[in-house]
Amino acid sequence: MLGLGSALLLTACGGSGKDTDGGVTADAGTDADAGGGTPGFNPLWIPPTLSGADLALSLAPSSKQLRAGAATPTYAYNGGELWGPTLLLTKGETVRIDVTNHLTEDTTTHWHGVHLPAGMDGGPHQVIAPGATWSPSFEVKNNAGTYWYHPHLHMTTMAQLNLGAGGFIIVRDAAEAALPLPRTYGVDDLPLVLTSRRFNADNSISTATIYGDYLLANGTPNAEVALPAQFVRLRILNAEIERAYDLGFADGRTFHVIGTDGGLLSAPVAVTRLLMAPGERYELLVDLTAEAIGASLTLQSFNRGQPFGFPGGETATSGEFGSLLNNTTFDVLRINVAAATTDGITALPATLVANTYWTAADATNARTLNITDMGPGTPFTFDGVGFDHATINQTVTLNAIEQWTVANGRIFGHSFHIHDVQFAIVSRSTGPVPEHERGWKDTFFVRIGESVSFVARFDDYASPTDAFMYHCHMANHEDGGLMGQFLVVA
Ligand code: C2O
Ligand code: CU
Repeated sequence: MLGLGSALLLTACGGSGKDTDGGVTADAGTDADAGGGTPGFNPLWIPPTLSGADLALSLAPSSKQLRAGAATPTYAYNGGELWGPTLLLTKGETVRIDVTNHLTEDTTTHWHGVHLPAGMDGGPHQVIAPGATWSPSFEVKNNAGTYWYHPHLHMTTMAQLNLGAGGFIIVRDAAEAALPLPRTYGVDDLPLVLTSRRFNADNSISTATIYGDYLLANGTPNAEVALPAQFVRLRILNAEIERAYDLGFADGRTFHVIGTDGGLLSAPVAVTRLLMAPGERYELLVDLTAEAIGASLTLQSFNRGQPFGFPGGETATSGEFGSLLNNTTFDVLRINVAAATTDGITALPATLVANTYWTAADATNARTLNITDMGPGTPFTFDGVGFDHATINQTVTLNAIEQWTVANGRIFGHSFHIHDVQFAIVSRSTGPVPEHERGWKDTFFVRIGESVSFVARFDDYASPTDAFMYHCHMANHEDGGLMGQFLVVA
């Protein structure tokens, strides 16, 4: 990592977003853009990687030059400026991760989407005090895919995420390695975490809003990246507090979804738009084989015209639920096409990995969670009960295959997430489950008035005392009590 002093000031003038004020600066991380750079854009920062059986993360206050003027105070892992290193794990290996808290407040570190014992999960119960180190150890049982880590301390998840605490986890396995897919990290296989922030006059990150005004791709404002003229893989994470994205390219081109939250699909699915709620990940293949060197294309989020209930569809531009990005189509990433690499992928694989998903017929028990509220201005809850550390809300028998239905109320959309398992979505009350959503999932968007059902097997890990969580992944809703906990018992 380079020092902050090396940051280069540029003027924000590119893109079709609503960036109207201030300068932005080039990032002081790994520069994925080999070219000279487009005026008004900054090279997309690519997080460094960590691998091996013994890993160490440390969370500390930091700062990053995100705009003209003062650097923005942030939280970052391992001496970075914002966000953290990407953990590269291999299915079947056992890892130990030492997580040290150099903040002046408590934190936790949750391995989102990773199947492990509840006591290693890093949820609200595994508190890491200032100065302390927490050392979970677990076997990597997940399929190759894109997961992530982030703080999960009840009532402070939103604040710590807002300051930039988080990181990717990429799991590799033999089935994925056997496929002709792009997998050169940072070259044709990019992690891409999307979020946005509002800034106070002193450039600190505003805590008065749940929607940012300025998009950050890997913590980079107005990001651009040079990608080779071949098939490229984007591992996208929506790490917003509340905003959802409806992603697509400005030229309307088709791209392919190859992976969902919990691993690769059975075959690529062609789409032109991709809805992503907070916490969700999708792996995409984008075909750049026919592009001229020097051409550019823009990934955008088509949030203009989204109805109320779609997070970010609101029309307010200021206030707690306002944002300059609300109800607009805004730029996410500019891609500049560069020369192909010698071993690049030039064809779309016809099939990916063999998956056998659970169906409704497999389930031997069913539960329903209703998303409720107590009237205007009150927090959302499950079945009228806010999160309570001392209450176990559900108890599941080890190895049970269950169908859970999340039934939303009439107020707003939500992003439901459950720990421990990867599930199959078996129905949506509003219509068919889209093909690209028919993979292993741990998080999904649920619309106003919609009921979504999924089936999961709660295998491997039981404990009479250590609970797993389920919650809305909109951190403001989670912190407000839209969270419950469950035990898996033998
Ligand atoms: Cu990404 Cu319970 O969290
Ligand atoms: Cu919610």
